[in-house]
Amino acid sequence: DWTPASFVHETVEQLKQQIGDAHVIMALSGGVDSTVAATLISKAIGDRLHGIFVDNGVLRKDEFESVLATYKKLGLNITGIDAKQMFYKELAGKTDPEAKRKVIGKLFIDVFQDEAKKVEGVKFLGQGTIYPDVIESVSVHGPSVTIKSHHNVGGLPDTMHLSLVEPLRFLFKDEVRKVGLELGIPEDLIFRHPFPGPGLAIRILGEITEEKVKLLQEADAIYTKSLKEHELYTKVWQAGAILLPVKSVGVMGDERTYEYTVALRAVTSVDGMTADWAHLPYEYLAHVSNEIINNVRGINRVVYDISSKPPATIEWE
Ligand code: XMP
Repeated sequence: DWTPASFVHETVEQLKQQIGDAHVIMALSGGVDSTVAATLISKAIGDRLHGIFVDNGVLRKDEFESVLATYKKLGLNITGIDAKQMFYKELAGKTDPEAKRKVIGKLFIDVFQDEAKKVEGVKFLGQGTIYPDVIESVSVHGPSVTIKSHHNVGGLPDTMHLSLVEPLRFLFKDEVRKVGLELGIPEDLIFRHPFPGPGLAIRILGEITEEKVKLLQEADAIYTKSLKEHELYTKVWQAGAILLPVKSVGVMGDERTYEYTVALRAVTSVDGMTADWAHLPYEYLAHVSNEIINNVRGINRVVYDISSKPPATIEWE
């Protein structure tokens, strides 16, 4: 019978066999899959797993610090790399969604490879591939198929000559979560919503600037926190805030303001292929709208996205 405990036990033994005394490098994203995979590999080979976690400047607010702290607590050997400014520099002036994805994908690989070169005796590349990734060889995104795989670092050039270590290759998401809990990974990480590899870059419509990232991080943090406080977070499949490239008039005291609009998105879904907009209570929407407008200078209007997929998509870019 499959149990999380027996899976952990057997997988750790297999990993020891497969890896021997070699070293493994792996990119971590802060997501469930890569964290569970890394924790299993680390249980098998300890610090011969070299995890790399990159701050690409388009993560959620405080995400880099808090995820790194969790990794350390789990005893993982992880290097955090602050590459924010490199990403902002390359993203400057880019407005096309696929161009943004490309920049992020390419730069990520460059940063990862530079770091990987520093580790000696590396023979393996760890990946958090799960069963649906294996069967979903063609994605609805067209060009961003590579993104999904780059996110799991499948896009690394062959020149690295590494064999893959993919301990979750035959698991579905709910099984990965059970294994994660068995491994003592905190629940807030295990039940985290999916987050796209290109991060907030595809939730800032049009050009990305550091200021816009900060604005969106604030609004998004308020949104996420309030969903949790109102016990709505686990009822939706994915939620996020989108910064629109539109300014509109508002009023504050006896001053007129001319500031940005944020769109809130929350969907229910099984796998992200189709999705319905989440019917969040009006009272909740009123609350979160006030919280954002009152606390984020630079945003004076909040709208809620009531489109389903198809024909809309979950993301706006
Ligand atoms: P859409 O917007 O196509 O998104 O309905 C479906 C799911 O995929 C995520 N998504 C991405 N994930 N790289 C990723 O790793 C991407 O470029 C990308 N684009 C969309 C999206 O967040 C949703 O979960």
